[in-house]
Amino acid sequence: MTASSMKSSASATTEVVLEADGLTKHFPVRKRGREVLSRVTRMVQAVDDVSLTLRRGRVTALVGESGSGKSTVARLLAQLYPRTAGEVKLHGKPVTATSGKRFRAYSRQVQMIFQDPFASLNPVHTVRYHLTRALKIHNRAGASKEDLENALTGLLARVQLTPPERYIDKFPHELSGGQRQRVAIARALGADPEVLLADEPVSMLDVSIRLGVLNLLRDLKERLHLAILYITHDIASARYFADETMVMYAGRVVEGGDSETVTQQPAHPYTQLLIDSAPDPDQIAGYRTSEKDRGSGEPPSLINPPSGCRFHPRCPHVMERCKTDLPPRFDISDGHFAACWLYDKEKA
Ligand SMILES: Nc1ncnc2c1ncn2[C@@H]1O[C@H](COP(=O)(O)OP(=O)(O)O)[C@@H](O)[C@H]1O
Ligand SMILES: [Mg+2]
Repeated sequence: MTASSMKSSASATTEVVLEADGLTKHFPVRKRGREVLSRVTRMVQAVDDVSLTLRRGRVTALVGESGSGKSTVARLLAQLYPRTAGEVKLHGKPVTATSGKRFRAYSRQVQMIFQDPFASLNPVHTVRYHLTRALKIHNRAGASKEDLENALTGLLARVQLTPPERYIDKFPHELSGGQRQRVAIARALGADPEVLLADEPVSMLDVSIRLGVLNLLRDLKERLHLAILYITHDIASARYFADETMVMYAGRVVEGGDSETVTQQPAHPYTQLLIDSAPDPDQIAGYRTSEKDRGSGEPPSLINPPSGCRFHPRCPHVMERCKTDLPPRFDISDGHFAACWLYDKEKA
């Protein structure tokens, strides 16, 4: 069995952990100058009608350029923002709490990892402090000092910071970027979560250590059967690392499916553009960090997004209807879809 057929046969049988249905987030724009007097509040349509499914033991990549709404999707999934519309379900049950006991229970199960491990760790505290705190908050520190010590050692081993005594009493500035991100991951694991939402977890790291951190996340997926959302602006790394890939453009999902299919046979003109401007996917260690310089044109304003398909002003295949009608998802093959009128079988 090839790796890709193993991936696709797993998709039908793997348990759904977290689902988003029609997630939408509009932020009010802060008023400036004379606008203050106006009663109209303009809105940034940051995320519009995003649906996705995270499964046990699988990595789903959410790919898109800067400003396409990826972090907002992650924060909505983590319940850090109230949503404008849509639903989030954990094991099939709608989740609503954004504070209190139910929120704590939710955030134990759904943990986030951020882009910048330096910002997410407190510089005045050691690794021991960060991990102990996470274990205590989630009632996993055990009853004795020895239990706690074992739990700490276990967490460091999980993220391959061994021997533990070399790292446990270090401060963040005494560690490398990759080691700090491993500590941030260990802290998330302290909650014993089912879902990790990893928002550009390697894009701040040196190229040479990115692969190690991605391989660690893959190892966690396999050993702990975590459902992982991997957010990235780099579609080449999605092919390498994710089972499924969803592509976002200007707040909307434009294509999704098995990573191999989406990256090897991209259907949406935007995905094609992303792939054409990405470096060789087999040289993941060398991928570019710049999010600029991708194809022609600029991403649109999300305050007044283009009508119809939001990609139409940049699209090389633009048709009349693209300017007025929002394309729904069209199925291309098993599990592979694109929100693009090119795939409408009853073309008008
Ligand atoms: N708290 C906020 N208030 C207002 N606008 C926001 C806020 N967070 C994000 N945005 C806007 O929403 C859009 C999507 O942002 P974001 O989700 O951070 O994109 P990405 O992570 O893909 O770079 C951007 O236009 C951004 O300026
Ligand atoms: Mg972001």
